[in-house]
Amino acid sequence: MYKILLSYCLSIISICAIAQDNLPTDFLTKEFHAGRREAFRQKMPENSVAVIFSFPERVFSNDVTYSYHPNPDLYYLSGYKEPDALLIIFKNKQQNGDLSYNELFFARKRDALMEQWTGRRLGAEGVRKELGFEQVYTSDQFRSFDIDFTKFSKIIYDYFPDDAGKGTLQTLINSFSEKAKISRQENKNIIQNYSILLNSTSASNLQGRVNRIKSGMANTGDAEFKNDPILNELISNPNSETLSLIQEKIRKNGSPAFDYNNIMGALREIKTPEELVLLRKSIELSSIAHKEVMKAVTPAMSESELTGIFHYVHKRYGAMDEGYPPIVGAGSNGCILHYIENNATKVDNKLVLMDVGSEYHGYSADITRTVPANGKFTAEQKAIYQLVYKAQEEVFKIVKEGTAFRDLNVKTTDVLAQGLLELGIIKDKKDVSRYYIHGVSHHLGLDVHDKFVDPILKENMLITVEPGIYIPKGSPCDPKWWDIAVRIEDDLLIRKNGYENLSIAAPRKLEEVEATLAQKSVLNNLALPKLK
Ligand code: GLY
Ligand code: MN
Ligand code: MN
Repeated sequence: MYKILLSYCLSIISICAIAQDNLPTDFLTKEFHAGRREAFRQKMPENSVAVIFSFPERVFSNDVTYSYHPNPDLYYLSGYKEPDALLIIFKNKQQNGDLSYNELFFARKRDALMEQWTGRRLGAEGVRKELGFEQVYTSDQFRSFDIDFTKFSKIIYDYFPDDAGKGTLQTLINSFSEKAKISRQENKNIIQNYSILLNSTSASNLQGRVNRIKSGMANTGDAEFKNDPILNELISNPNSETLSLIQEKIRKNGSPAFDYNNIMGALREIKTPEELVLLRKSIELSSIAHKEVMKAVTPAMSESELTGIFHYVHKRYGAMDEGYPPIVGAGSNGCILHYIENNATKVDNKLVLMDVGSEYHGYSADITRTVPANGKFTAEQKAIYQLVYKAQEEVFKIVKEGTAFRDLNVKTTDVLAQGLLELGIIKDKKDVSRYYIHGVSHHLGLDVHDKFVDPILKENMLITVEPGIYIPKGSPCDPKWWDIAVRIEDDLLIRKNGYENLSIAAPRKLEEVEATLAQKSVLNNLALPKLK
């Protein structure tokens, strides 16, 4: 009787489900995601289990949430894009009564009423059918699910989100903590620093890293981080002997989040052919957006209007979002590295720094171009632009498999320091750090700052190369340089003997930038009525 009732209810739900037409057809396949889970499993220690939670929903205002962004790891391993879910991967086949499995999925429950308000849900059945999992349950079934986490050699999981709220996700985390007898949370501040220190192949940048750890400790209320014995050992003796010693300790101690991110980083740092199809698309369409904005820009336009053109072009190509908040800053705003207000009412005759990249099916582009809104670089703007361009070209020459990641930054710093010295902006090469204040590169993928573990470049890694010079007003140099900010950022796919620049369609050479600025855009003829 219950079974009849249940199937009746299920058929009502499927009848009630609102069909959706005209969806994109180039999503990653369930075979891709299954392949990534298998690759993850291969890297897991014998008799271990990995647990991956969805990201929380985040409040926008009152009862409205931000448009949901899935946990990229969960998406990578499953294709699931909803909140309130949990994936469990076992290294070895599990026998549970009659059931035999090496992975379990707990999906957000379907709810006809909620679905009419806030959108469709896959539910357990959808995860089975569309994502290809065999053992699928709903999240509310996890608490009573018979699974003894304590019998595994290792439980691997990332830091729990610190804003999980009070709903289903927090219940899932609590149930897992109880089942696995987890007494303390993984400390993100500590584990992330451990990972960076493990990737330091020499003591060359050690003092800088130690300074960053110290300033992090000084600016946090996190007592566990402040008192971490391993990090404090390095702070007391910042030399290569201590580094080797603590690297050994970190490796020996391990930790769930450390083990988890080592596996995720090793997978995600190498892009598969399926991912590269989406990344190429995301980067190409973003490059075209940069070109369109260059054609359209006039001094009378606002930063926000320029941002809107990026949004429009991205969406015209089917990218639903950006991989990070767009940065469109005129003049002094360009000196703020992650400027996101974009609210100057006109860009005037200023240099406009635009760091904007789409997100296509989860995959982010990351491109920066810097252009004079009136079409012509001044002599000073030109000098800085050409120096940044030269630094980028010099770095391009060493981008290939086998290059140490940190050497890209060594090269950038050297070229920029020499150039600033020759322009008389600095008197001593070491003062380059006043005007070049970030690293030159990071990995790119599902996260704009993507996960990685290997300090050496490998074929099919995707990285940015983004030198920049920022001279805020009041800097100790001739005022003619003030408020000039230039960053040029491209997305490079690593090859055995070099690279492929995937953002080539965005004009970069100074002459090409000026020629593009001289072109017309249909947007310049779009006249809207004046507001009352
Ligand atoms: N758009 C952020 C970055 O360039 O790293
Ligand atoms: Mn970047
Ligand atoms: Mn960027």
